[in-house]
Amino acid sequence: MALNIKRPNGTEDVIPKNINKWHTVENIAKDVASMYGFKEIRIPTFENTELFQRSVGETTDVVQKEMYTVIAKETKFTLRPEGTAGTIRAMMQNGLLNEAMPQKVFYILSCFRHERPQAGRLREFHQFGVEMAGSSLPSADADVISMANDIINMLEIKNVELKINSIGCPKCRAEYHKALKAYFENKKDKLCDTCLSRLEKNPMRILDCKSPVCSEIAKDAPLILDYLCEECSDHFEKLKFYLDNLDIKYTVDPKIVRGLDYYTKTVFEFVTTDIGAQGTICGGGRYDGLIEQMGGQKTPALGFAMGLERLILTMENQGISFAEDMGCSLYIAPMDESAVPYSMKLAAELRSSGLWVEYDTVGRGLKAQMKYSDKLGAAFTMVLGENELNENKAKLKNMKTGEETEIMLDSSFGEHFSDIAIGEMFGEVLENI
Ligand code: HAM
Repeated sequence: MALNIKRPNGTEDVIPKNINKWHTVENIAKDVASMYGFKEIRIPTFENTELFQRSVGETTDVVQKEMYTVIAKETKFTLRPEGTAGTIRAMMQNGLLNEAMPQKVFYILSCFRHERPQAGRLREFHQFGVEMAGSSLPSADADVISMANDIINMLEIKNVELKINSIGCPKCRAEYHKALKAYFENKKDKLCDTCLSRLEKNPMRILDCKSPVCSEIAKDAPLILDYLCEECSDHFEKLKFYLDNLDIKYTVDPKIVRGLDYYTKTVFEFVTTDIGAQGTICGGGRYDGLIEQMGGQKTPALGFAMGLERLILTMENQGISFAEDMGCSLYIAPMDESAVPYSMKLAAELRSSGLWVEYDTVGRGLKAQMKYSDKLGAAFTMVLGENELNENKAKLKNMKTGEETEIMLDSSFGEHFSDIAIGEMFGEVLENI
């Protein structure tokens, strides 16, 4: 019987012809991260379930409905639904928070959430994210937002709005919770069951419930900005001043509360209208209480994460071109088996200088080899047969112009070929200017 197993719903394969899109986004994000002094961190794909319950929050959709959890040998593990909790856990466990502050890390990782799949919303997706620990100042918020803004600009993504808000600290949140409870109390009978329990434990979570009825009711709920304490209000004003100072455009959106419980003070999202309903390409904020809550010393921190699939989708929809990965420089076509050993040697020499070189490894005839070299998009081809080997020279064919150049098959070959190939590359660059 034929094997008919498909990839799980909400997951994607990235096949080789599309991998350059991922490389483009990842390379630019990494380059910008290093300009801001962030170093890469790698963490496990799964963690103890409790880590997410305690950080992301028991009353969030992510923890209540979307986690992939397994019990292995009586311990509960969860595939990470996001990168912050694991990253902070790793920073604490490896003593990074005892070093000079601020500590700045970035990551590229897969996340898993059991959501309803749609365009831009997957069950396995990928994030580029950053976390900065050790600064409570609004200049740090501005620096982190500026970094996200730079990545989006360097990717040439347009039509993006930066939305910022402050969701206060536990002090002002207490007053706000009271106001929310009072507001939702007499609309109780219309709320979904999950929100009913949230009303007691964490009424702010009702504000990002995905049920259409709850979100309709939430539209007229009191706004956190009206309840900020003096410290949070000052922090927010200074952040706005710094963003203005950097000429970063933003709008204040008092409805942004984010879907994860650890946030305090600043929250922000970069949103585009070009990829449909799931238009948030980046989300982040400050989480000054999380490290202490996880058993560490009180350490303010903040960060953001960008959905790589959403960035790529936006770029595709906006017709932005992606950098091409390195092309094939040379295809060596042995006429028969006797020319294979020499083909191998030449390929090895050129590969050691960093070029992509191929020779026939499937025993094709000459005509089929030429067709294959065409498919690879090789810049040059070179046929090697008895004559070429006897005379110690061959013809290098430029596949774009059809022009043929004689080249010696001796110790000068590598250098001579590199000169020709580089000349060709420069010609192409000049043509494209
Ligand atoms: P988040 O808003 O849950 O925040 O996710 C960040 C980004 O990941 C979103 O803006 C979106 O681009 C992408 N994303 C989220 N869910 C999906 C999905 N189901 N399919 C495709 N893309 C998705 C966080 O995860 C926080 N840890 C961000 C952060 C870091 N805050 C502070 N530091």
